[in-house]
Amino acid sequence: AVNLKGRSFLTLADFTPAEIRYLLDLARDLKAKRRSGVCEPTMQGKHIVLLFEKTSTRTRCSFEVAATQEGAHVTYLDAGSSQMGKKESLEDSAKVLGRFFDGIEYRGFDQKVVEDLAKYAGVPVWNGLTDADHPTQILADMLTIEEHVHKPLNKVKVVFPGDVRNNMCYAWMIGAAKMGMHFVGIGPEELAKQMDPEIVKSTFATARETGGLIEITDNMNDIKDADVIYGDIWASMGEEELIPKRSELLSPYRVTEETLKATGNPEVLYMHCLPSFHDFETKLAKEWHDKGVDIREVTDEVFRGRHSVVFDEAENRMHTIKAVMVATIGK
Ligand code: CP
Ligand code: NVA
Repeated sequence: AVNLKGRSFLTLADFTPAEIRYLLDLARDLKAKRRSGVCEPTMQGKHIVLLFEKTSTRTRCSFEVAATQEGAHVTYLDAGSSQMGKKESLEDSAKVLGRFFDGIEYRGFDQKVVEDLAKYAGVPVWNGLTDADHPTQILADMLTIEEHVHKPLNKVKVVFPGDVRNNMCYAWMIGAAKMGMHFVGIGPEELAKQMDPEIVKSTFATARETGGLIEITDNMNDIKDADVIYGDIWASMGEEELIPKRSELLSPYRVTEETLKATGNPEVLYMHCLPSFHDFETKLAKEWHDKGVDIREVTDEVFRGRHSVVFDEAENRMHTIKAVMVATIGK
């Protein structure tokens, strides 16, 4: 039987397909319990800390709500508000936090930081997004796919048109390879060239073992037969100065109604980790729009249309993050 007590959750690459299956099933179970009003808190008396060096809506709120529903207490520290990394080494901070808390969530830049936290803290550390991965997002995405696409994950084709060198594309390559899925990252050669060669190599190798298939192409025709078109913004947090360049490079990869039609799948799903620039309603999108730069990675029509399950997906962040915490530190 699968037992994840005491384990960190840094990347899905560290987990077996059976362990990932266990987390998805646990999330489905916890979601059903929540829906039917059953309350069996498994984290009473536990304390967790959330460290965010980048902003967040879904991830932070998922950890807070999920932990609170399970009876735990949450401390939130944003980038400027602790000594970590500035007046105190990461190692010392990790050792201290490990004495106070039963679990630590971290969102930041370098994957090495989340690995070092886990190395020194002595308690489970959960990756809430780095430049190289976003594993809790992938659990939510897989759960959402299972709720909407009625076939096993290893028969599902996910296509990601956009910034193939970002955390979401990497996270999908890692997760899809593990679960034997077909994943296609579609983006311009210029971005594909910048991909992390280690992640490419290891995910291609894993897919060969699991019967999955990972592909990186620049050809939008490869969306054919997709079960899921997956979106993300074109310039990630911390890369805002690249917006004009990325908009130029990625405009042929914007997802429109035509893109959905070109899959040939009348039931294709549109998914997105969020936040999204599907219109010019946000401050950032509007400012660039006024300067003649269109940063929409998807049209508003698709985002709000019948294929889109983006808000089901967002809700599932909470249920899957809860599963990760319950599995690793719950009673
Ligand atoms: N998808 C996601 O991680 O959202 P937040 O940045 O709002 O946490
Ligand atoms: N690639 C995006 C994902 C946000 C959830 C970013 O890192 O900003």
